Amino acid sequence: MSLDLSLFPPQETTFEPATPILKWVGGKRALLPEIQKLLHKPEPGNRFFEPFLGGGAVIFSQTIDNQLIAGDVNTELINLYEVVKAKPKELVRKLKEFRNDEEFYYKIRNMDRTQGWSSTSAVTRAARVLYLNKTCFNGLYRVNQSGQFNTPFGSYVRPNIVNEIEIYRLHNFLMSKTSTGKDRVAILNASYKELARMGKSGDSFYFDPPYVPISPTASFTSYQSQGFSLADQEALRDEAARLVEKGARVLLSNSDNEIVRELYKDKKFFKIHTVGISRGIAAKASSRKRITEVLIEGK
Ligand SMILES: C[S@@+](CC[C@H](N)C(=O)[O-])C[C@H]1O[C@@H](n2cnc3c(N)ncnc32)[C@H](O)[C@@H]1O
Repeated sequence: MSLDLSLFPPQETTFEPATPILKWVGGKRALLPEIQKLLHKPEPGNRFFEPFLGGGAVIFSQTIDNQLIAGDVNTELINLYEVVKAKPKELVRKLKEFRNDEEFYYKIRNMDRTQGWSSTSAVTRAARVLYLNKTCFNGLYRVNQSGQFNTPFGSYVRPNIVNEIEIYRLHNFLMSKTSTGKDRVAILNASYKELARMGKSGDSFYFDPPYVPISPTASFTSYQSQGFSLADQEALRDEAARLVEKGARVLLSNSDNEIVRELYKDKKFFKIHTVGISRGIAAKASSRKRITEVLIEGK
């Protein structure tokens, strides 16, 4: 009897996923299954890009044997990921020195207002970002006009300041090599435009920019929200359209409203999918608030 080899397809190399180590506003964990369905899996040799990294829920969930390239303009965030990659043991050791009390919190929060800040080590700065994220009010990363962290203390009873398992899982993810022996993951302190311009035919992009406010006000249409103005949203749409023209695959997230639908209305380039997410913790499904977002697929 001959063996039917089609029953044994060649094994693909897959990689262990990691999970976000930060709580991040707009984190994509809840929407991951919908995003995963629409994300294009690049062919061998092509690359996957995530230019607005934040908490990294999408890129860190990838198990594919391709190069993964992420970027963000937030320098402290990028420093954290560099330290998780290069010095996880030192990071964990430093975090264990950090306590969840209000006086200590403000001492750590105010480090970026002191003279010594510019010479603070990369490990201490990384531990500070993780610590503030776990102990500050609502995990909100917020800085003032001078770039100084200004979220108040969160008063949580037992925040999980040192999550060693998550840190080491992400460390392994960041250290992984493709089957061709290349570094699999690169994380750059760069604007989304720099990453978009690296894109070639066959590459795949997921863009998760700061959203257009759910109900845009006049101040947004003439100015900006989260440092990302309407003009920035238009420039991002244009970069996405250029990538589609080049033959790259593109997926973008944004809020569901008239401005976003107007921005991406050109059916030659984009198809808009509406996705629903449940927000709130009410026990009865009927009293949970269901809101929608859009996933925009390049064509
Ligand atoms: C909505 S968050 C991303 C959420 C993330 N994908 C997640 O799942 O947690 C947006 C991120 O974009 C970054 N950002 C803002 N403007 C940017 C720009 N011009 N280029 C690159 N990143 C930018 C912010 O620092 C922030 O981390």
